[in-house]
Amino acid sequence: MIDSIRGQSLLSLHDVSREALVEVLDTAESFVEVHQRTIKKVPALKGRVVASLFFEESTRTRLSFETAAKRLSADVLSLAVASSSVKKGESLRDTIATIDALGLDAVVLRHRSSGAAEQVSRFVPHVRVINAGDGLHQHPTQGLLDAFTVRQVLAERRGLTASETGATLFDGLRVLIVGDIVHSRVARSDVDAYVALGAQVRVAAPGTLLPIDIETWPVEVVEDFDEALVWADVIGLLRLQNERGTGSFVPSLREFTTTFGLTAARARRLRPETLIMHPGPINRGVELDSVVADLPAAIIERQVSNGVPIRMAVLYLTVAGANREVA
Ligand code: CP
Repeated sequence: MIDSIRGQSLLSLHDVSREALVEVLDTAESFVEVHQRTIKKVPALKGRVVASLFFEESTRTRLSFETAAKRLSADVLSLAVASSSVKKGESLRDTIATIDALGLDAVVLRHRSSGAAEQVSRFVPHVRVINAGDGLHQHPTQGLLDAFTVRQVLAERRGLTASETGATLFDGLRVLIVGDIVHSRVARSDVDAYVALGAQVRVAAPGTLLPIDIETWPVEVVEDFDEALVWADVIGLLRLQNERGTGSFVPSLREFTTTFGLTAARARRLRPETLIMHPGPINRGVELDSVVADLPAAIIERQVSNGVPIRMAVLYLTVAGANREVA
């Protein structure tokens, strides 16, 4: 069990303790205040070098990691993979060794292969590696920002400061994760985070989009999406991942939407306090109707905004390690 991510790589949320998760969420709260300043910068990582290596497409994760690193005053090396020597056939190992020769403190890595972040952490054991999404495996900062957003909204509703609530707001919280579970690294990280924090998690998906090892997950599988909707305090929708072949796992997108899409008609049956979440990018009209994405209960843009303080917290804790002051 990992009891703190201080000074360590962050490859997965599996086996990260409730205390370690709360430490990240509380650290991120302190960085929300930095965002409200006129000069949105702190010197916490001044003189440190963070490489941003995205071997797979990204908008939210890449921009928020690079923003986070710059707000901490780190120097950011951003590799444009499409115009790099990767296109000439350079291996991942050689690419990492080349960048490491420039003097690195941390690597933020997105890669289509499950396990790529762990592999890189073995190539450069002196560098902190932060997994920004590897294949079907994990997307730890997405799991963290989802939990952070839920805690923030629930604390606001109760007139509390999020950090004074610790993990108490998750105790017994009912989270329903819906859609392309089998291909989703977000689902795996979300389940790890929510369960460690004390929530109950159910998953709903066509049988073809459930992983074969789902029985080993700490979740309940529900057959009837409509029944589960009214149970949920939080609904986490997942993108149908066509780049990983999801199209061949469902008879048609229309059938998926009919059985597991959050349509406007289904959204009308939700309890008013139920939160609607999606990690993005959204396939409007597939996982959810366009009007649903724009409801007040949909906190999708807030998830994106919270990517910056969460990634600041992760960079700060993993790279700066022991020093607790934000400055
Ligand atoms: N949620 C997420 O990882 O989005 P990007 O692929 O745009 O980074």
